[in-house]
This record gives sequence, C-alpha cells and structure tokens, in this order.
Amino acid sequence: MFDELLRAWDGEEVVVRYDAPSGTWMFVCVHSTALGPAAGGTRMKTYAHPRDALADGLRLSSSMTRKNAVAGLPLGGGKAVLSVPEIPHDEARRSLLLRYADVVESLHGTYWTACDMNTSPADMDVLGERCSSVFGKTEAHGGSGTSAPATADGVFVGIRASAKHAFGTEDLSGRTVLVQGVGAVGSILARLVTDAGARVIVTDVDEIRAKELAVEVDGDVVAPDDAIATECDVFSPNATGGVLSAGSILRLRCRIVAGAANNQLAEPEDAERFTECDILYAPDYVVNAGGIIHLASLEMLGETVEKRDARIAAIGETVTEVFRIADAENMSTERAADRIVQQRLAESAG
Ligand code: NAI
Ligand code: PHE
Repeated sequence: MFDELLRAWDGEEVVVRYDAPSGTWMFVCVHSTALGPAAGGTRMKTYAHPRDALADGLRLSSSMTRKNAVAGLPLGGGKAVLSVPEIPHDEARRSLLLRYADVVESLHGTYWTACDMNTSPADMDVLGERCSSVFGKTEAHGGSGTSAPATADGVFVGIRASAKHAFGTEDLSGRTVLVQGVGAVGSILARLVTDAGARVIVTDVDEIRAKELAVEVDGDVVAPDDAIATECDVFSPNATGGVLSAGSILRLRCRIVAGAANNQLAEPEDAERFTECDILYAPDYVVNAGGIIHLASLEMLGETVEKRDARIAAIGETVTEVFRIADAENMSTERAADRIVQQRLAESAG
C-alpha cells in the first residue's frame, strides 16, 4: 500500500515500523544526507490511513532538505511521523516514545530528530534516554529549549527583507501585518512587528487566544474564515500548511506573504499564482528556518548565541537573493529558492 508513494519519492531511505502495543505506524523518512545527517522533527498525529502519514512524512522530509540547505546548515533533511490511533498521554506516551527512540537510535545518527506538531521538548528528553541523535530537549536536560522565539525572529527578518523589496524600505511603521495563528511562533511575531511600528491584525481558531493577544498588542481580530480576504500589507501564515491554494491566493488582498507555517502552498503550481497576482511570496522554508538554526547551531555545532543570531539574520539576505533571482530569471520565488538549494547540493557533490 506504500509502493506508489515510495516509488515517486526522490529521497534516500524510509524506516517503517508498526508498533503493535500502541497501534502506531512509525515512519522515519531520510530524504537526504548529502549535506550532513538528516535533521527534522517528529510529528505525532492521527491520520485516516497510514498511507496519508507516510505521504506527509515524505513531503515534509524533502522540505527539511531544502530548509537546511538554504539556511546554510551542514545538515540533510528528514522527518518522522508517528501515526497514532489517538494522541497518547502519561505512561502510554512514554513507552511509545521509548520504543520510537530505539528505532531512531538504530539509524546510528543518520537521522536527528527534534519537536514538531504534538511533540515537545519534554518528549525529546524521553527520546534522549535511549537515543543520542536528539535535539530540542529541555534546558534541564542540556537542550536549548523551545525553537519558537528563533523561528519568529527569522520570520520577522524575512518580512523586513520582503518589505524592502516590495516597498523600497524595510521600515514596518505604518504597515499592517495580519498574523494567522497566534500560537508559539505567531504570538511572538505579533509582538515583534508591533514593536517595529506596524499595526497588527490577528486571527486564530482559538478565539480567546486571538482576543487576548490583540489586547496586548493593541491590534484587531478577524474571524479565521475572513482572514484571507482582509486587506493588509503582509499576510503571515503561522497556523497550518496548505492555506495558499488556487482559491485562496486570488482572494488575498496583501502585497507580501511571509510566515512560519510549513508547506503553505496547497500544490506546487500555487507558487506561479503569486506572480500573476503581483504578490511577493517569501518561500516558507526560507523564512521559517530560525527554529532549526537555533537547535542545530547551539546543540549540534556547538556555536555561540552570537553565531546563531548571525545565522538567523542571514535569512534576510537569503530572502533578498531569492527575490533577485526570481526577478532576473522571471521565475516564481519558490523556484528561485529551489535553485539556491540545488546549487548548495551540487557544490557538496562536486
Ligand atoms: P502552535 O500550535 O503553537 O500555534 C498554531 C496556532 O494556529 C494555534 O494557536 C492554533 O489555534 C492556530 N490555528 C490552527 N489552525 C488555524 C486556522 N485555520 N486559522 C487560524 N488559526 C489557526 O504552532 P507554532 O509552533 O506556533 O507553529 C506555527 C506553524 O509554524 C506550524 O505550521 C509549524 O509547523 C510551523 N513551524 C514552527 C516552528 C517552530 O519553531 N515552532 C519552526 C518552523 C515551522
Ligand atoms: N518543526 C519545526 C520545523 O519544521 C521545528 C524543527 C526544528 C524541527 C528543528 C526539526 C528540527 O523546522
């Protein structure tokens, strides 16, 4: 039932384990080790069918290859998916994580994991009991904690670079930024853009969260269904993937799209649609690399906080370079970013 998906995939290796005690399918997708060990988070989620979980892992692992390469990290790309019948808690969760840790450890460092949807630094501590290729543990366990502030910093830098390209200045004062999803990343981002003088509009399916943040930043709230068509300078997706589709892109009333959500485009062709609508799209995997930069820089590469910050600041230069290539070659910004990835991969091969 997995053969078609695997045949169509251009990655290196997938480890599949069915965990009978919990009814969980584990998929560890190693997309590329060309630039270093494959790194990417472990996602825990319920899926209608294990095939959907594998499809998610395959797609997300290839995004991690691109994200890590464009961020200039000596890392390949991978992602793991734990397709659970329901999200486990307490002892059931711990024992599942320990069995999963054995699977990751059996790869002898080919794949390094961290948090992703529904997994936390505390979960990484559990994995760390049985497996050495884990980052994003709690500070009490020698990790560098949550990656959300670093991710928000990177998105902020990306928004400023986008503003420079679109408006001729990276100054955000007087601009309107719509932050879709005010969770760990979006809430910090909303504060950063407010401090930079922008007016913020927030939206979240959690109404209370949205209202509380709007009060804090003196911004406005829009209902989730109205967010796409709300007029703003910058639309920043920080909730879930797939929000930018043939239908939604035509309804956008913004000049820039730049946010942290992974896999924002519903399908690859959506990248071209921005050009037709004169919207500047900062590719998700370029602007949302702050989290992995934070973890890899501090925990794997043993770098200083200053070096980490310099790497995050460089996201702005990369975004500018992506726009330059897109303009010069008359191609979508997504394809321009992919070209930088291909160059980095080719350099490593040569
Ligand atoms: P989070 O789970 O803390 O926040 C997501 C927020 O979006 C929640 O408040 C949720 O209620 C809201 N939401 C969900 N669906 C929504 C919808 N349809 N409309 C409006 N709001 C909606 O997640 P976090 O950590 O802030 O991450 C946000 C996005 O960025 C995710 O897609 C994640 O994969 C991605 N990302 C996160 C990184 C990190 O370091 N945390 C790194 C790179 C990407
Ligand atoms: N899941 C986040 C991402 O897609 C955070 C992450 C950081 C994952 C580091 C793996 C490693 O970037």
